[in-house]
Amino acid sequence: MPKSKTHPHIISQNLPPTILTIFGATGDLSADYLIPALLHMDEHKLLPQTFKLVCVGRRDLTAKSYLDFIVKKSGVIKKISSIAKANFLKHLIYYRGDFEQDGDFTGLAKILADHDHGAKHQCYNRLFYFATSPRQFAFITKILKSAGLLTVCATHERKIGVLVEKPFGFNLKSAQSLNHLLLKYFTEEQIYRIDHYVGKETVQNLMVVRFANSLFEPLWNNRFIDHIEISVLENDSAAGRIEFYDSTGAIKDFLQNHILQMLALIAMEEPYNLTAEFIRNEKLKVLQALEPFTAEKLKSRLIKGQYQGYTKEAGGESDTETFFALKTYINLPRWSGVPIYLRNGKQMSKKLTQISVHFREPVRCLFEGCDANVLTFQIQPDESVHLQINNKIPGFGIKLHQGDFKFGYDLAFKGEIPGAYERLLLDFLEGDQRLFIRSDEIEASWKFVDSITENPEFNKLPIYKYKPKTNGPKEADEWIKKGAKEWWTR
Ligand code: BG6
Repeated sequence: MPKSKTHPHIISQNLPPTILTIFGATGDLSADYLIPALLHMDEHKLLPQTFKLVCVGRRDLTAKSYLDFIVKKSGVIKKISSIAKANFLKHLIYYRGDFEQDGDFTGLAKILADHDHGAKHQCYNRLFYFATSPRQFAFITKILKSAGLLTVCATHERKIGVLVEKPFGFNLKSAQSLNHLLLKYFTEEQIYRIDHYVGKETVQNLMVVRFANSLFEPLWNNRFIDHIEISVLENDSAAGRIEFYDSTGAIKDFLQNHILQMLALIAMEEPYNLTAEFIRNEKLKVLQALEPFTAEKLKSRLIKGQYQGYTKEAGGESDTETFFALKTYINLPRWSGVPIYLRNGKQMSKKLTQISVHFREPVRCLFEGCDANVLTFQIQPDESVHLQINNKIPGFGIKLHQGDFKFGYDLAFKGEIPGAYERLLLDFLEGDQRLFIRSDEIEASWKFVDSITENPEFNKLPIYKYKPKTNGPKEADEWIKKGAKEWWTR
């Protein structure tokens, strides 16, 4: 087995000088994901040789006190060596600014311009990361324009890029207006809409397993596949971000983005090549072909749940779902009639993300006890791919046993797996849009989700309570039996 190379991207070192500005730099996302990823990238020499990081927040901090603040706040950074800290501080600039209050960002514009016109007069790529609450995206975009931040210096060919965090809108209409606003100031090639699940190694592996092996693709259709399940079970509660979660719910928080993106990768046709354009064209076709929900279908194909104790966390009555299970179809010839089961819940018994592709049982089985083959992509934890097959149990007579061929990342690749944010930040620096979401994909996903959450029937559906640290409401277990046998992920 070849040794894994976890960091093959030396090219980032040779990128033009780059200045990355993070808005929302004192928030949880920055503390738990962005700064840890950038620190790690710095240590592994994955940042451009000339790199500056401008962190924008409302607090009154210096670069040094900002880094101390983040290390203390972060649930991820355990400790940081003095060398790593000193190296990182060389890149770091802290800028105090409140885009909702004073809106004065001329100081920031000056910092960027001073770098361009510094001693070497080398000019920088200008990248902006919107890591704030989505309601601030519009303010920031307008400020970038009015403060003159979107003009790169003319002497070198330099780029502008903007990375927008999720949630991208809260329904189709708001996503369309956000796209409209962004596209007023940026071109589609400059906009990076993030979905961190797409950056996970195991999610990127979906395309490789499907298209680099001749074994699966001929069987990847409604003749051989009985159903598909994507389950994302989370064991944490919504308590830490209840204000956001209570206005969002599991369907908008997880289905619209992470789950539909994984489904698109599982169900799409092979792209003509590996460019962002062709990959995204194929994903889009799946998203556009999702069968919308009608009031009738909602009643029979959707289960909503809420864990006990949620209303206490939410500070009062709430009918926000913390769990959903649904069945849908992809109206494309390849998938016609194949049920797709999608599920997400908080406060489940464990954290587990799995995609399972259930093949049909043999038309005629010579033996007693044949079971269907199942190809399972374990996205996290214990990253692996499994294939369930029937085997003979040793001994007299013939009895069948369902065993697993397992490909586990821990055994195959001893090195650590790069984190999703690190991968995506690197792509952003390099200008690679393959793992980012195009405007039409976002809108197609919202159109499908709107058919659920904007449907007048949605609020009339019962919301089943479930005990924390269980498998969700028992009604969901009963419901799945009407179609598939049971949840694969349990
Ligand atoms: C976020 C959701 O996008 O992803 C959270 O808003 C969720 O509710 C999180 O907990 C899960 O990410 P991961 O990478 O820990 O599975």
